[in-house]
Amino acid sequence: MTTQQLTATNALVTGASRGLGRGIATALHQAGAHVIGVARDASSLDDLQAELGDRFTPVAADATDPTTVGQLMDAYRPRILALVAGARPLSRPLHQHTWETFSANWEVDVKQTFHWIREALMRPLEPGSVVIAMSSGAAVRGSALSGGYAGAKATIRFTAGYAQDESDRAGLGIRFLSVLPQLTPATELGATAVAAYAARAGLDVATYLSQLGPTLSPETAGKAFVELATDAQLAGSFMLTAGGLAPAP
Ligand SMILES: NC(=O)c1ccc[n+]([C@@H]2O[C@H](COP(=O)([O-])OP(=O)(O)OC[C@H]3O[C@@H](n4cnc5c(N)ncnc54)[C@H](OP(=O)(O)O)[C@@H]3O)[C@@H](O)[C@H]2O)c1
Repeated sequence: MTTQQLTATNALVTGASRGLGRGIATALHQAGAHVIGVARDASSLDDLQAELGDRFTPVAADATDPTTVGQLMDAYRPRILALVAGARPLSRPLHQHTWETFSANWEVDVKQTFHWIREALMRPLEPGSVVIAMSSGAAVRGSALSGGYAGAKATIRFTAGYAQDESDRAGLGIRFLSVLPQLTPATELGATAVAAYAARAGLDVATYLSQLGPTLSPETAGKAFVELATDAQLAGSFMLTAGGLAPAP
């Protein structure tokens, strides 16, 4: 799929209403795709539709609901599936979590990834399609103030790898990729985590951020997803920083 080929392409983005997902939906739209944006908050999606116009279809729905997943796959048959939706973890040390807060990212991030990937394999999506799942740099480094977040994100990376194996074994021609972004204060989720890690280190946010380096923006995430969607040679897992994509260790 080249950038030009995106003009006749349906791209479905979960978590499109704000943050990195909004940047990814916008970039795919700018590259010519018809973007179907899924999130629960209808008003944020309507705002995005007002901004993007015709080739953006807002769908206010829970991306973890298997019925919704099946219906949207039937209705839109996407060639690009960007699985970005994620819960905001409670930023507290381990012992201050309950099981419910500890497992929140399993119930949203992992669950939606599982349902959409399962549908992509079972249908299957057309050869040449691509599924890009949002993991996190925390999958490599851990995330001591986020309960089960890092483990959930590691499972998402594994799940994309397992799906690629099934696609290859069945000759489906679908690429399954995962992306591991650095922590960024440019989104609500990231800003909450940055504030918690800065406080734990006894630093103010500005000093903590200066140690993180250049900030990853939603626009850079969008550019990276367009690159992954259009370059058929790209496979596996990728770190994502303000400088762009690099193969994950
Ligand atoms: N920001 C970072 O530093 C960072 C770093 C590494 C990885 N990530 C990952 O990148 C992804 C996006 O993060 P972000 O920072 O952009 O977060 P964000 O600003 O909090 O946005 C999260 C998005 O997910 C949607 N969402 C949450 N639960 C949903 C559900 N059940 N069904 C449908 N949509 C749902 C939200 O919309 P509604 O609330 O309207 O449903 C929103 O659009 C997440 O998977 C996150 O873990 C972020």
